[in-house]
Amino acid sequence: MVISVINKKGGVGKTPFAFSIAKDLDMFLQSNDNSIIESIYPNKAKISKEPSLLENCVYDFGGFVDKGILDIVRQSDMLIIPCNELYNSILRTIETINEIQTLNKNIIVLVSDYKDEKDKNIIEEMLKSNLSDLEFFFFKHSKIIDNAMIAGLSFTELYNENVLSKLNYKNFFEEYNKLLHTLTKTKENKNVKKWA
Ligand SMILES: Nc1ncnc2c1ncn2[C@@H]1O[C@H](COP(=O)(O)OP(=O)(O)OP(=O)(O)O)[C@@H](O)[C@H]1O
Ligand SMILES: [Mg+2]
Repeated sequence: MVISVINKKGGVGKTPFAFSIAKDLDMFLQSNDNSIIESIYPNKAKISKEPSLLENCVYDFGGFVDKGILDIVRQSDMLIIPCNELYNSILRTIETINEIQTLNKNIIVLVSDYKDEKDKNIIEEMLKSNLSDLEFFFFKHSKIIDNAMIAGLSFTELYNENVLSKLNYKNFFEEYNKLLHTLTKTKENKNVKKWA
């Protein structure tokens, strides 16, 4: 399975989500953007300006998107687009989706880093009125995002650390676990098709 986490907008959480998904699903991780992934995910993460297409890999695409990257986007089994509540971020997200939807229609949007239900509804409404056929997951602001990068642990690993972490990260983890299940199902369906 190949997953691309992509958004032109920076600071939306591409790297933490890409890292955590790769680690939890035991996948490789490649990025075209500078980050600490090679040190927190040794042997399985690689940064390169021109990443190559690899089976069982999550791609974290930040910065400039060139042709080689669009080829990987086209061949991905799923595109994951994180977006936060900033107006500019929503606009850039709509722009990104409009551009890549022509290449690949399997898109999951992560509405992330919002503070309350009101903000969540505004983002969802804005995205849904400008785009169609998208699947949404919702991640309220949580320290788990920064902690994953600091500790080099996936969201599942952080959640399972102790009783307190299970309490603190409960809502975030429930939604994340649903996302992992959706991705696992995508992988199973792909394998069924391959052998059918
Ligand atoms: N649910 C959330 N809770 C807390 N922070 C979040 C959440 N979702 C996204 N973030 C943001 O993600 C940031 C970390 O992600 P990062 O800046 O690496 O994103 P990125 O999209 O990879 O950016 P870049 O394009 O610069 O590489 C945090 O500082 C925070 O602002
Ligand atoms: Mg990044």
